[in-house]
Amino acid sequence: MGAFKVTDSVFCVGAKDPDRRLFEGQYSVPEGMAYNSYVIVDEKVAVTDTVDAELGEEWMENIVSVLGERAPDYLVIHHMEPDHSANIRRFTAAYPNCTVVAGARAFPMMAQFYGDDHASGRLEVGDGSRLVLGRHVLNFISAPMVHWPEVVLSYEESERILFSADAFGRFGASGGAALEEWTDEARRYYIGIVGKYGAQVQALLKKASALDIDIICPLHGPVLCGDTERYIGLYDTWSSYAPETRGVLIACASIYGNTAKAAAILEEKLKKAGCETTLVDLTCEDMAQAVALAFKYDRLVLASVTYNGDIFPCMRTYLDALGERGYKKRSVGLIENGSWAPVAAKKMRAELESCAEIEWLGSVTVRSALSDASQKELDALADALLGCGK
Ligand code: FEO
Repeated sequence: MGAFKVTDSVFCVGAKDPDRRLFEGQYSVPEGMAYNSYVIVDEKVAVTDTVDAELGEEWMENIVSVLGERAPDYLVIHHMEPDHSANIRRFTAAYPNCTVVAGARAFPMMAQFYGDDHASGRLEVGDGSRLVLGRHVLNFISAPMVHWPEVVLSYEESERILFSADAFGRFGASGGAALEEWTDEARRYYIGIVGKYGAQVQALLKKASALDIDIICPLHGPVLCGDTERYIGLYDTWSSYAPETRGVLIACASIYGNTAKAAAILEEKLKKAGCETTLVDLTCEDMAQAVALAFKYDRLVLASVTYNGDIFPCMRTYLDALGERGYKKRSVGLIENGSWAPVAAKKMRAELESCAEIEWLGSVTVRSALSDASQKELDALADALLGCGK
């Protein structure tokens, strides 16, 4: 992508992988992935983070395009996951006099991953640490488990820039930073990758609330300039497990279409009543998006066929993913189908039993195909969903 200016003294030197289709071995990224790295030019020069292993050459070229012959003084590692640390050795080989700056827990990881803990040229930083580059000063904030334990963020005080590591990242190698354009893929990224660590994100936001932030420079996705409180507001919502908007997600796992038909009729009833409703087919649609949408809305309907005396496998995967990410504070309805021994509703409820503050809105039992009796139950579930939270 080439280097580009963030401000007169700060440049993004990251690299994009538009052809990548799977991130972290599990997240579909139809628009590829961006790996950001930044250069701060002052009396001293700092480079922040590296990029994915395959993009190291392009990244080094981008650094040279900004600095020319000048050697950086510091390599700041905010996060040790290999999508950001894979080129540390390439960098230190090219710039052997630079100091590697990172949280204390990052250095043992450098030894584990790359065989070198930089004992002779390193600077450990954490809460309250400052790195003076000249006019630019980096203030470090530890952010354990956002998304690994060694993570630190840094705040550059002269230009009010937050270097936010994985936080505020987004899937996709393209796409702008306008909130409307950013939100869907940022939510899918946040819920998928960091969603389990809401308490830690809340702790970070508390520390960041003392800062005036004009620009957010994440490790993935676009640089966020202006209106940063709106992005931070969404992170506050997501990490506190509050619904982002009123609406219903219907997550459906059907085999021959009868469960899907019940779900579609419910969707129609809700939409007709003016309720924002989304129906996802767990058998073929993106699981990470289905998970993220459950957190977006305040109400959820789980619709599954009974299968081998249990829940259909993709529904089990879905419920595991919700539980792992601390799904809570929502209202949930159930649709089950079973031709001789329907048990999916009971099993789905049991799967979410450990989730806090779930209001159960009732269930619909379909025996093979919709009947007058199950249609009435659907009406009752629609009424319960529409009346909920009013
Ligand atoms: Fe983008 Fe947790 O690494």
